Amino acid sequence: MAEKKLLYIETVGCQMNMLDSELVVASLRQQGYDLTDAPESATTILFNTCSVRQHAEDKIYSALGKLRRLKQSYPDKVIGVMGCMAQKDQRRIFDRAPYVDLIVGPGQLHQVPELIERVQGGAGRQVEVSLDRTAGSLEQIKRSHESFDPLRDPSMRPSPWQAYVRIQIGCDKFCTYCIVPMVRGPEQGRPPEQIVAEARALADQGCREITLLGQTVNSYRYRENGKSTRLSDLLLQLHEIPGIDRLKFVTNYPKDMTDDLLRAVRDLPKCSPYLHVPAQSGSNRMLAAMKRGYTVEEYREMMQRIRATIPDAAVSSDFIVGFSGETEDDFRQTVELVEECRFKNSFIFKYSERPGTKGAEMLPDDVSDDNKRRRNNELLAVQNRISAELNEAMVGEEVEILVEGPSKAARDRGDAGPVLQMTGRTHCDRIVVYDGNIRQAGQLVQVVIYDAHSHTLFGEIVTSEVRHDLHSIS
Ligand code: SAH
Ligand code: SF4
Ligand code: F3S
Repeated sequence: MAEKKLLYIETVGCQMNMLDSELVVASLRQQGYDLTDAPESATTILFNTCSVRQHAEDKIYSALGKLRRLKQSYPDKVIGVMGCMAQKDQRRIFDRAPYVDLIVGPGQLHQVPELIERVQGGAGRQVEVSLDRTAGSLEQIKRSHESFDPLRDPSMRPSPWQAYVRIQIGCDKFCTYCIVPMVRGPEQGRPPEQIVAEARALADQGCREITLLGQTVNSYRYRENGKSTRLSDLLLQLHEIPGIDRLKFVTNYPKDMTDDLLRAVRDLPKCSPYLHVPAQSGSNRMLAAMKRGYTVEEYREMMQRIRATIPDAAVSSDFIVGFSGETEDDFRQTVELVEECRFKNSFIFKYSERPGTKGAEMLPDDVSDDNKRRRNNELLAVQNRISAELNEAMVGEEVEILVEGPSKAARDRGDAGPVLQMTGRTHCDRIVVYDGNIRQAGQLVQVVIYDAHSHTLFGEIVTSEVRHDLHSIS
């Protein structure tokens, strides 16, 4: 009997990588693979990698280091590095981990099944990456970064009711700190017909919530035969699909937050009132050094338009602390912006210099690690206080949540029910835990919020009795 084909796959990085891993798993399942949690028992071990910060790369090199012995004992196991670090480091990965068999950039993932077979057939190490940003004509470079999207594997998703759909690949903004434009290639919008067809197929599989993905998703444009489709037009088309209840999109670029998009989010009930629009800094000096293309005044003006058009919108952001030349005064301006904008949450990162970016070439990484850490902790404390205040304001409210499944605590404890701590998300992307039943997974249920922490709301299923109590409180 032929040996069973088992795949172990580890994914780091952003939602793009989660989606890419889902697609690679789907293509390998078609070749007869099953998934395993144990690298020791796998026939193929894949890492889908990220290069956005040094830490993400260190994690993968350390995981690869741990496989050296295993590969010595079982030389037939195929070890592959895919994704952004594969594109960035290419053959240099062999210098640190010569026992790696496969290096595949994010634009070449459709080739993974064939490349594995080549290795197994004795063809030796395989490297497939896309063209660098200066290695050909724009058309050639674009072609080499095209991704494959139609294959879907619901079992790879955190929950089968939710799915990512890529609408845009690459990025052309070239923020000076960022490696993404180098590893994901030029910005390209996918044709709207493909996106709508994929969303319909997902709805047929039982998917209720779709999150559209792009590095600057609101810059999406697709031009064909003199007709131009924007993100707002796409939302209108997706809104028509029966079975889809919620539509989200990430990540937004502040300069492209146009009024037509804000009106679409306001007017289309399936669109979540949730906008992730990274500001990165509150200091104009830093924004200019980062080449973000807007001033803090313009960001504030955008925020006012969001608040005026969609008053109940939850807005979240990303910040980098300790970028080149950041002074205490620059940092104070970031704190002020966070205080003023009252984001639902913010992801805060210490600047990590990335070789290959303008930042690494032109600007010194001159803020000490101690200062980066202190600023990170301070900004996080301010944001956590604001998140907690916003969440506390929701106590007593009745909200609709899409139930994702048992909470992490219930899964860690191995709870089996019948009453189980479940987790779900509000339309505005807040996490709610409540005591419920496994059968509610994938359903929209009403809960009333009775307690709140900075990252979690605590709810209770609404029955007519709870509703009655609420009325008697108010
Ligand atoms: N395309 C998205 C996000 C890309 S990466 C956008 O433009 O918003 C996600 C986040 O990582 C960024 O928003 C930024 O805050 C952070 N980031 C990117 N490069 C970084 C670097 N070199 N060091 C630290 N954080 C970085
Ligand atoms: Fe990176 Fe800037 Fe593009 Fe976002 S917009 S992916 S931060 S270059
Ligand atoms: Fe990382 Fe690549 Fe995403 S560098 S953040 S996995 S696009």
